[in-house]
Amino acid sequence: NMSGHNMGNMKMGEMHGGGLLPESALPQNLPLPDLKKLINTSSQSNYFSATLTAKPVKLQLTPELNTEFWAYNDQIPGPAIEVFEGDTVEITLKNELPQATTIHWHGLPVPPDQDGNPQDEIAPGASHTYKFTLPEGCAGTYWYHPHGHNTVAEQAFRGLAGVFIVKPKQDPLAHIPVQNWLMSDLKLSSDGQIADNSMMDWMNGREGQFVLINGASKPQITLNQATRARIWNACSGRYLDLALNDADIYVIGTDGGLLLKPHQVKSLLLSPGERAEILIVPRKSTQQNLKALAYNRGKMGNVPEEVTRNLASIVMTQDSLPTLPEQLRALPLLGQPTAVKKLEYTETMEMGKGMNFLINGKKHDMNRIDLTSKLGEVEEWEIFNNSHMDHNFHIHGTQFTIINHQLNGQVHQPEYIGHKDTINLKPYERVRIKIAQHHKGLRMYHCHILEHETLGMMGQLNVI
Ligand code: C2O
Ligand code: CU
Ligand code: CU
Repeated sequence: NMSGHNMGNMKMGEMHGGGLLPESALPQNLPLPDLKKLINTSSQSNYFSATLTAKPVKLQLTPELNTEFWAYNDQIPGPAIEVFEGDTVEITLKNELPQATTIHWHGLPVPPDQDGNPQDEIAPGASHTYKFTLPEGCAGTYWYHPHGHNTVAEQAFRGLAGVFIVKPKQDPLAHIPVQNWLMSDLKLSSDGQIADNSMMDWMNGREGQFVLINGASKPQITLNQATRARIWNACSGRYLDLALNDADIYVIGTDGGLLLKPHQVKSLLLSPGERAEILIVPRKSTQQNLKALAYNRGKMGNVPEEVTRNLASIVMTQDSLPTLPEQLRALPLLGQPTAVKKLEYTETMEMGKGMNFLINGKKHDMNRIDLTSKLGEVEEWEIFNNSHMDHNFHIHGTQFTIINHQLNGQVHQPEYIGHKDTINLKPYERVRIKIAQHHKGLRMYHCHILEHETLGMMGQLNVI
């Protein structure tokens, strides 16, 4: 039942956002923490097995701040899962939360009945084992988070998320050092506890006063040479347009793995849920900030203009572009589409009830199939953002490629082609993608601004 999330029922304190801690409340400039790995308890080769326990935990953020999170294995962010292509993965979820949950393997080609759909909730006190085998060729930068019914936004902002890295058997970039940067958002009220969503958060997507990298606020990152960084935008609603002075940035991978060739960029926009792999080549030895540039995404209400934020300070040592292979990988692409699907995003305001976020005029209904696809058939999907704010599009279980973008009557080719499971749409933008599903069953697609997803901007695809 949605009433708990309904803006019409919000208390006044929530409407005004309440008091928040200042940004200086958390320590800054500490060395970037490593993501702690989930330990494999299996002794078989090509087999990964482990347990994740989701439960409330109090973490001492400072001597004064004892904050309750919901965490996997008491860790913020959750433990990093690192496996190889071809591995069989068996993960037991123990649910010690006060509400039902699931684990969704964002971006991974796992069968629908193992993908943590809202229909497959694990009750409080229960446990469940997810099991799947990762196909060859799926090496990439994925993550996991809850996907229960109407609870995703809250469970994510309380801390439940972790990275899932699939490594190739032969890494063409094995000679380049790697760093993992999981970017998440934290909103603490003045009592040091995680704040509930305000009415503005429900409309625009939640943004807290802290952007964390691997759980730390404004950490210090050291780059002693050209470095490959895997970056996750695991924020509920925050867009990150990342930039660095005095360094060359090359995109080398997208959500679902490496590109064919590196592509140099000035900045890198990651909407919520998106990931990228970049190669950072320092142009001089300096200390500077990793910035998130102002990105105005058509928020509703009286919200201040975005400004550039500093996410981290980076100490870097000048280096040159490392030797790269001619081709980073053979990038398999889908053939000609033989079916077409169209989605339209809209939002409406209902008096006394707040916003509705809709796909093709409808709110998500667990008991309704919105679309049907045939197993393996290549389809063209056209997603039209018929609204004055940015939304993004994510679909479960597969990777797609962009055919083109259309904005203000102009058609644009994508800047580069890569495997994607999440893509942003500016206001009134149309994006056409090529997509195929490789397992039968039920798949979700939605805006990955988690508040919009929770308020209904989600649909269900049945693959037959
Ligand atoms: Cu990360 Cu259905 O999403
Ligand atoms: Cu997903
Ligand atoms: Cu949205």
